[in-house]
This record gives sequence, structure tokens and C-alpha cells, in this order.
Amino acid sequence: MNIDGKAWRTIWLEDGGRSVGVIDQTLLPHRFETRSLATMEQAAEAISTMVVRGAPLIGVAGAYGLMLALQQDSADAALAAAFERLNATRPTAVNLRWALDRVRERVAPLPQAERAEAAQVEAGAIAEEDVAMCEAIGDHGLRLFQELAAARPAQRQNRPLNVLTHCNAGWLATVDWGTALAPIYKAHRSGMAIHVWVDETRPRNQGASLTAFELGREGVPHTVIVDNAGGHLMQHGEVDAVIVGTDRTTRSGDVCNKIGTYLKALAAHDNGVPFYVALPSSTIDWNLDDGVAEIPIEARSEREVTHIQGRRDGEANDLAAGGLASVQLSPDGSAGFNPAFDVTPARLVTALITERGASAASEAGLKGLFEDLRPADH
Ligand code: MRU
Repeated sequence: MNIDGKAWRTIWLEDGGRSVGVIDQTLLPHRFETRSLATMEQAAEAISTMVVRGAPLIGVAGAYGLMLALQQDSADAALAAAFERLNATRPTAVNLRWALDRVRERVAPLPQAERAEAAQVEAGAIAEEDVAMCEAIGDHGLRLFQELAAARPAQRQNRPLNVLTHCNAGWLATVDWGTALAPIYKAHRSGMAIHVWVDETRPRNQGASLTAFELGREGVPHTVIVDNAGGHLMQHGEVDAVIVGTDRTTRSGDVCNKIGTYLKALAAHDNGVPFYVALPSSTIDWNLDDGVAEIPIEARSEREVTHIQGRRDGEANDLAAGGLASVQLSPDGSAGFNPAFDVTPARLVTALITERGASAASEAGLKGLFEDLRPADH
């Protein structure tokens, strides 16, 4: 997608595959810097500190992390240790485990001398497939948006389709296009009038910083709102649809996404607003049924709650040089608690939008689309 007219992806190979380039997302939207990850440890650190984040991108970064590990040491023990190190970086998004499994299964049967090269090919394939899946999600979501726009009452036909999103499920969270934002980009490019309500998404503010950045660079009209504003806007008819991503989807259609998503789903349900969840099939965990009981929820530092990062007032809004500051919000001594994700039960989800089309958020719906991917025992 575009930054100042230049097309970017979030992750790329450098130096013939000896290192991996990424955008440092901890500095956006005020500073634009890229980083080179030259070792598995640097890749692991980039995932856990959220230099790269978003379920699909974490998966691809993990896959390239295994490649970097195998370039140093391709023995079985080194492969196992790198797998464990990378898999432990963030526990909730299942794409990480999925991508690591894929690379391990590809390289483990090979002679050691061939493993690093094969890991590079497999990680590259995962990245390319992610782009294709996200673009397809965009096409399927666009059709839903078109139907929704056409079905609105006559008095609402002459205003933009108002879509609310939470966190960042755009191209920065994937390799390109995004999941929840892909249909929005497709709609905007098709000429549909669309406006996005962007939840700020405390504590790390992926909405206010990353989603607003992406949408602005692509020219999509949007407004940043505090996390608590969505219910009020829905009560007043200002939201035509909610669309979010997911970090892990159970086979029964429960979706785990950034903390606060569940409250938006409740408000949407109460107000008759469709609540869509966009996902590539790499996000489905066929082993799990009950998301609330079974999905591990990442607990992050309380400092993300008690402090906030932004650009210093008065500093130039210069992407190359924006000066960043961290300030404390709560009193010395107050504890903070920071669960990073919550689970929205399938009954609150209007439809899942996948690379193969939309389905009901249910076991039957997912089976209907992905019978071939479902493990035999489920
Ligand atoms: O903690 P993050 O920023 O990695 O969380 C990201 C989200 O919750 C996204 O909504 C999710 O990964 C789906 S993204 C395509």
C-alpha cells in the first residue's frame, strides 16, 4: 500500500536473504523508519516488542525468523530451539504457530545443508499467500459493503457508508492490504463513498496511530474516536457496519481480537448494526471450540496502561524525524492490568469474511468454506 506515493509491504528480504527488512511500527505515525533483522533473536525481539505486530505479519516474521536461525545453525537442536523461542514471543495469534509449523514441516525432512534455503522459499510462499488472501478478503468484503449501502433507507443513501473498526487490521498488520481494512480500501478505490470511525484502541493505540496513518496515506476519509464513543454513535445511526480482524478464530466461530472488540460487538448487537470479522484461514484454530475458555490471552506490561506515547507538542509533524515522548497518566503506585485481547462469541458475529467468501460464524459455516483444511479429527 502507499506511503507518500511509494508502494510498501511490511516485510521484505534484504541482502539476498541474509536479513529481513521491516517497518518499525512502534514509531508510527510520527516517525517512519525501517529496521534490518539479521538474526533469529532480532526477529523474536521485533515480534515481542511489537516493532512488527498483527496476526498475519507476526506469522510471516516468525517464518523468516526460522530462516535466519537456520542460516546460523541448521541442526535439529537449533531448529527446535528457534521454534520454541519464536513461538513464545506472543501467545494469542495462532498464525505464528501455524507459520512456524509450516516452515518446520518443510525443512525437517531435508539434509541440513538445504534447510535455510528451503525455509526462505516457504516463508516467501507464506508471505505471498497472505497478500493474495487479504486481497480476496477485500473483494468479498466489498460485495457485502455494496449490498449494505444499497439496502440503506432512502434518507441514508446520499451519505457515505460509515464503518467502524477497532485496532489495526490493515496492511500494517499483514504483508499487504490488511484484513478488516482490505474491503475498505477496495470500496474507496471503486469510488464508493466510505468513511471510517477509527477506535483509538487503548492501551497501545493501534487505531489512532496505525489505522489512521494507513487510511490517511491512502486518502480514505476517517475520524479517530475514543474507544468509548462507538456505542453512542451506533445509538444515533452513525455506524452502518463494524468490521474488525481476529488473532485466533475457533472452529465454532468465536473470534479473539484486540481488547475492547467484545464491547463493540455487544453494542452492535444491541443496535442492530452488522458486526463483520475479516480473516485469512491461517487464523482459524481448528483445535479449539470455546474461545473464552480456551484461547490464551496475552498479558502485557502494566506500563502500557499507566503511560502513553505520542509526539511532543510543537514538534514538526515530520515522518522522518517526529520527536516521541512517553508520559505517565496514573499516579505513582497505582497498579495497571493489561490483557491484550478479548473473545467475541460467535453469536455476536454477523459474518466471517474470508479469502473464500463470507460465512456464518459457526462450525458449519467454516466447514462449508474450508472442508479441505480441517484436520481429520475435527
Ligand atoms: O497486538 P496487535 O497489534 O498485534 O493486535 C492486532 C490485532 O488485534 C488485529 O486486529 C489482529 O491481529 C487482526 S489483524 C489482521
